[in-house]
Amino acid sequence: MFTATPLSGSKAEQYAQLIAQCQALLHGERHRIANAANISALLFNSLAEVNWLGFYFLEQGELIVGPFQGLPACVRIGLGKGVCGTAAATGETQLVADVHAFEGHIACDSASLSEIVVPLFKNGVLIGVLDVDSPVLNRFDETDKAAFEQIAALFCEGSD
Ligand code: SME
Repeated sequence: MFTATPLSGSKAEQYAQLIAQCQALLHGERHRIANAANISALLFNSLAEVNWLGFYFLEQGELIVGPFQGLPACVRIGLGKGVCGTAAATGETQLVADVHAFEGHIACDSASLSEIVVPLFKNGVLIGVLDVDSPVLNRFDETDKAAFEQIAALFCEGSD
């Protein structure tokens, strides 16, 4: 049984604990979908002010929704479309303080006001994105970005 340990301390300390929990979840299991499901459940249940969190995987030139927590989402996103498709097309994390100010943002959950999308690279090849939405404007900062990028790297290294 997984026991959720409450996070404590500064934001950076809390992320260090969360990253250790991610490593523990990934330990001994390399199945990509299983790991994405467990990582999204862990993060969604550990982070405040997050209404959608999950994975999109690249298949035949488009992003297809994978394991996530939150309301049902758009299934297919073209490269270059929305925040997710922009992260995938540019290979750069997209930190969006106000989704309504992002041209082309795709609204899946009308509650979402800010968003961060991290591209997933496995051995230098794009395999998808990790998408996190918040109902609070400007929810994510550079500390969140660094932590999600680290978690994304752990996921990619630890999954086939
Ligand atoms: N807002 C995203 C779409 C995915 S949902 O937020 C789950 C985008 O603009 O790409």
